[in-house]
Amino acid sequence: MIQILRLNHRIHRDERLTTHVALTARAFLSSKLYYSGQKDSNFENSIKKVNKQFGSKFTTEYTKNPLKLIQNKKKSKFTIIHLTAYGLQLPKILKKIKNKNILIIVGGSKVEPEYYKLSDFNISITSQPISEVSALAVFLHEFLNKKELTSTFKDAKTKIIPSEFKKVIKNKENQ
Ligand SMILES: C[S@@+](CC[C@H](N)C(=O)[O-])C[C@H]1O[C@@H](n2cnc3c(N)ncnc32)[C@H](O)[C@@H]1O
Repeated sequence: MIQILRLNHRIHRDERLTTHVALTARAFLSSKLYYSGQKDSNFENSIKKVNKQFGSKFTTEYTKNPLKLIQNKKKSKFTIIHLTAYGLQLPKILKKIKNKNILIIVGGSKVEPEYYKLSDFNISITSQPISEVSALAVFLHEFLNKKELTSTFKDAKTKIIPSEFKKVIKNKENQ
């Protein structure tokens, strides 16, 4: 199981970026995104709409206390991965985490030292500062062994047909 924790969401300032983190998590086969900071119904509704249209059981949930959430996930035997520019390089860690239930932490504007300490692995994608969206995508692409590239969601109202031009079909059973 793959779950994400997005830290320190700020309404308006982060809405687009947090939405992109969630869309990436969903498309890359994660089951849930928790977020801390400010509770944001617009963000939650925008993800619900995408699910309704394109399928998947992906959910979002606001958490007031992200440190407690991490502690609880550790008790449930999740491996905690913190994506940070300052972490260890992914190829060195990948074997150790394959096939585990993971909670992936992605930061917002700032990340307190507690998150580094509580994580089982602090992992960097490229050892350069990049976007949380690209870090998450590359991490999951490697973790999933490219499985996400050809996966589909069964419960979609609108199914995108891979083609040279735009092609979609409407699934009447799911309307
Ligand atoms: C724009 S950065 C801000 C980081 C913030 N300045 C801090 O205190 O760490 C937002 C998030 O992107 C992710 N990130 C940025 N570069 C990364 C990299 N090279 N590898 C993995 N994650 C990265 C991290 O999760 C980070 O918390």
